[in-house]
Amino acid sequence: MRPSVLGSAMRPSPSPLVSRISLLSRPSHSSRRCLSHQATATPAPAPARPARPISQLLKWKPEEKVDHVVVHGYVRSVRGMKAWRFVSLSDGSSLDPLQAVVESGLAEGLTVGAAVRLTGSWVASPGAAQSHELQVSEVKVLGPSDAKTFPIQKKYQTPEYLRTMPHLRPRTPLNALLLRLRSEAVTSLTQFFAHQSFVQTHPPIITSSDCEGAGEVFTLTPASEAAEQAGKDNTDPQHSFFRSKKYLTVSTQLHLEALAQSVGNVWTLSPVFRAEQSDTSRHLSEFYMLEAEMSFVDDMNSVMDLAENMLRQLSTDLYQSDTVQSLLTRTPHFGQDLAPAEEVARRWEGLMQPNWPRITYTEAIDILKQHQDKFEHKPVWGAGLQSEHEKFIASTVGKDRPVFVTEYPRDIKAFYMRPTQGSGPEDSSRVTVDCFDLLVPELCEIAGGSMREHQLEPLLDIMTRQGIIKSPSETASEDDSGNGLEWYADLRRWGCPPHGGFGLGFDRLLSYLSGVQTVRDIVSFPRWFGRCDC
Ligand code: 4AD
Ligand code: MG
Repeated sequence: MRPSVLGSAMRPSPSPLVSRISLLSRPSHSSRRCLSHQATATPAPAPARPARPISQLLKWKPEEKVDHVVVHGYVRSVRGMKAWRFVSLSDGSSLDPLQAVVESGLAEGLTVGAAVRLTGSWVASPGAAQSHELQVSEVKVLGPSDAKTFPIQKKYQTPEYLRTMPHLRPRTPLNALLLRLRSEAVTSLTQFFAHQSFVQTHPPIITSSDCEGAGEVFTLTPASEAAEQAGKDNTDPQHSFFRSKKYLTVSTQLHLEALAQSVGNVWTLSPVFRAEQSDTSRHLSEFYMLEAEMSFVDDMNSVMDLAENMLRQLSTDLYQSDTVQSLLTRTPHFGQDLAPAEEVARRWEGLMQPNWPRITYTEAIDILKQHQDKFEHKPVWGAGLQSEHEKFIASTVGKDRPVFVTEYPRDIKAFYMRPTQGSGPEDSSRVTVDCFDLLVPELCEIAGGSMREHQLEPLLDIMTRQGIIKSPSETASEDDSGNGLEWYADLRRWGCPPHGGFGLGFDRLLSYLSGVQTVRDIVSFPRWFGRCDC
């Protein structure tokens, strides 16, 4: 009997299988770029088999050994003994590694970080840590690694440290899992929208205006132009690349509205950019926003239903997946920087529940006022909800379910939102708009949406009052270039039905559902105020 592979110092007489490999194997070839060792005396060449992902192999528990099994992966650790090496191999497909047992003579180049192809027999393992292991008969080092300088270690490394090397961080098993979670979420959302007959679209990244009007846009200038302009106080936009100022989009909503007037209901998952100087666990400068726009819809409940059904479908689809289940059953080794597994499970289950509460902003303020001594900022009608307020509403009203808060005061929301019918008849400062924020405990706002003002006159009126477009007299007296949003008003001139939509912070959602401490850890190459590493 072989000893346990965990910490055994000696390996007594090998099994017949092992001895065959041992007798046959010897180093056969080595080159500077690619080291290959194989049992050259093997009578017949191994039948070519496609390499199998480690996640599949780990589930495969044949009673008899199976030969000629091929696996590709990266060496995570090597525990050496004189005659044998125990190689822990990952390929990003599972949190758990595969154990490969390699005779020392074949182990040249099997260093931490190396990319390898291993061929061998898949056999029941005598070790307690795994049911099966690969008894290796051929090693091919496809990408050597200098283990002494490779910064990713199998031992615990803090998220802060890993964040300093975003190009290597995805190789850690947890970050690979987060990449798979993102991919599976995109697949589920794509299916959801396809079933609802929404058209997936690609709105532009370069825009002429600040959609949200919050002044958080990045300006786009060719490097050559920026150098030319340096030191000049006044530059003429007419001589710039696009002949007027352009920005990176903060939301694709306005363009989606144009597309919705063509094909009906549309959606997109696009990168958006915000120059917010917010150094928080919820803010990025570049993130993915999922936006949907519905045409011929008058009642905002339909838009909230869409957001709710979408998230319920997503969570139901993914909950039983290997990716989510391994997130929820992870060992403490992987989980120490994540929210506790029970908490993460509650988040998923909350999203799967029906009937998410919907309360108005005014009701939310009333609730908050009853508990105002709990807050640093007093809840006041007319002011935005602070994150402490949102957290309170999410955890008390929703419990584990997300909560929609609707009808915020017009003065604190974007210009394009439709006023709530009958709001503030006597006092214009009490006018509210048909909008909603979707709140979850801890993370607060994950989505925001609204009905859009679809009538020309009221839209022109508010855009002029807010200085977004020029009044007819201003345009006549000065240049008529406008500020780039005239086209948006134009949409109302020719067949603009009532419509509405929402934007979901995709990275915020994934950070909520994975339990990472900050949205910076759910994005492979995070950009935030002061940091854009590579
Ligand atoms: O609430 P926001 O600003 O809504 C809009 O942009 C609308 N035009 C969307 C629409 O109706 N089509 O942004 C939508 C969501 C927020 O709820 C939040 O989850 C996320 O985007 N978000 C951010 N996520 C990460 N980092 C930031 N800096 C974010 N700012 C907003
Ligand atoms: Mg918002």
